[in-house]
Amino acid sequence: MVVWLSCWLVLSKRLVTMKAEVCDIALDKQKGCKIAQHPDIMLELQREKAAQMHLVLLKEQFSNTYSNLTLTARSLDKLYNFADCSGLHLIFALNALRRNPNNSWNSSNALSLLKYSASKKYNISWELGNEPNNYRTLIGRSVNGSQLGKDYIQLRSLLQLIRTYSRANLYGPNIGRPRKNVMALLEGFMKVAGSTVDAVTWQHYYIDGRVAKVTDFLKTRLLDTLSDQIRKIQKVVNTYTPGKKIWLEGVGATSAGGMNNLSDSYAAGFLWLNTLGLLASQGIDVVVRHSFLDHGHNHLVDQNFNPLPDYWLSLLYKRLIGPKVLAIHVAGLQRKPRPGRVIRDKLRIYAHCTSSHNHNYVRGSITLYIINLHRSRKKIKLAGTLRDKIVHQYLLQPYGKDGLHSKSVQLNGQPLAMVDDGTLPELKPRPLRAGRTLVIPPLTMSFYVVKNVNALACRYR
Ligand SMILES: *[C@@H]1O[C@H](CO)[C@@H](O)[C@H](O)[C@H]1NC(C)=O
Ligand SMILES: *[C@@H]1O[C@H](CO)[C@@H](O)[C@H](O)[C@H]1NC(C)=O
Ligand SMILES: *[C@@H]1O[C@H](CO)[C@@H](O)[C@H](O)[C@H]1NC(C)=O
Ligand SMILES: *[C@@H]1O[C@H](CO)[C@@H](O)[C@H](O)[C@H]1NC(C)=O
Ligand SMILES: *[C@@H]1O[C@H](CO)[C@@H](O)[C@H](O)[C@H]1NC(C)=O
Ligand SMILES: *[C@@H]1O[C@H](CO)[C@@H](O)[C@H](O)[C@H]1NC(C)=O
Repeated sequence: MVVWLSCWLVLSKRLVTMKAEVCDIALDKQKGCKIAQHPDIMLELQREKAAQMHLVLLKEQFSNTYSNLTLTARSLDKLYNFADCSGLHLIFALNALRRNPNNSWNSSNALSLLKYSASKKYNISWELGNEPNNYRTLIGRSVNGSQLGKDYIQLRSLLQLIRTYSRANLYGPNIGRPRKNVMALLEGFMKVAGSTVDAVTWQHYYIDGRVAKVTDFLKTRLLDTLSDQIRKIQKVVNTYTPGKKIWLEGVGATSAGGMNNLSDSYAAGFLWLNTLGLLASQGIDVVVRHSFLDHGHNHLVDQNFNPLPDYWLSLLYKRLIGPKVLAIHVAGLQRKPRPGRVIRDKLRIYAHCTSSHNHNYVRGSITLYIINLHRSRKKIKLAGTLRDKIVHQYLLQPYGKDGLHSKSVQLNGQPLAMVDDGTLPELKPRPLRAGRTLVIPPLTMSFYVVKNVNALACRYR
């Protein structure tokens, strides 16, 4: 199975919340890029957005309805430049709430935006709306699956008329957690527009932000909620369009992003790393993290662009983990092991081929990543072809006195921080001598590259 994690930036949620999949964002100075040398522009964009958004979101949370916001051409320019300069691909969710009296989508506003961005030759992929299952609550007007499907077909024909976008990618329907009514919406949509979209998308937020406690992040039942969802969505998608790609188009620890102080802590990393492992092992190619930066606490970098624990976790993942998932066999277990679910589910072990982009490791190396939710350390002995190989350890632990609440991390005992605004620190492994037992400290996340295994599955693309 293959998990393909590339960089995506999504503009969605009333066209204002940014989401980004993990990558060395904004630090990747590209040739001919206008803003890479001007981080001030990004700061300005962020401050502008934060100031506007804070009030709007407070109001929305209070009244539980959407507010109207205007996205100007200048904001779109800045956003596009930001994405482009960071080597990200932008996915733009058009406003689906402009509707005709017969409830069909009124595309006239979207068309002006498409024409403008085409005139600028912006390479953008598209979506229509965000969590359509919530429209009844939020605007008192529901849109069913077949109507939304027709709207997507209408959008596809619009795109085809515009040369720049005649082959642009279109993703949807961007539904929320697959409860019963949401699944009905998905079915209706798939019947009509399953073949129109390039990937079927849904979103998942693990916890209601208002009730989160730090110990919530240690609950194995919570970590497992995603598995059933994936199966539900796959079932419907495979009924109508077998083999169609499915993406987790938005994921975060908590909904109501601004309500708690925990989803940017070390503890939230357990959910994030487990999400990446589960999705990969269940064949989901792309996951979009909500969000790269925002006003709340689900983000990867803080208001000053300092990386938070999930950023470091993502960076390690990106550097060490390749797309191919390997099966794990744990000796001495009664139950048939599944990837990521071993030893009473509190010790989760995933294995992939090591990223072929990482030139420190030759093809054929493998990377294990391990989540230890036990309050005691665990020992793992590598067997078979993995025995007697040198292992590089990347152990991430909280840094400072806040423990699991910490917003800083240490890698193999060294605190991680940016060298300067544009330079990431070196991520130094700790080499373990061949044959050594891996000792996994309590409540930690770690990566282990088993060098030079020459694993057949990992030798070729
Ligand atoms: C937003 O704009 C639409 C169309 O102009 C209007 O129908 C709606 O009432 C407005 N909503 C709010 C909350 O202002
Ligand atoms: C669609 O919206 C535009 C602008 O909001 C309006 O001028 C036009 O009449 C609408 N079209 C229909 C068919 O209602
Ligand atoms: C709904 O209304 C729009 C705009 O008035 C029109 O173009 C469309 O054909 C109508 N759709 C149906 C199914 O009547
Ligand atoms: C637009 O971006 C996508 C995704 O990165 C890429 O695959 C495609 O080649 C790009 N298209 C053009 C015309 O550059
Ligand atoms: C879906 O909504 C449209 C427009 O509101 C309506 O015409 C249609 O009958 C609905 N379809 C179903 C299956 O409910
Ligand atoms: C959030 O946590 C920090 C320490 O990590 C603390 O200083 C701050 O007061 C907390 N804020 C809230 C709203 O709980």
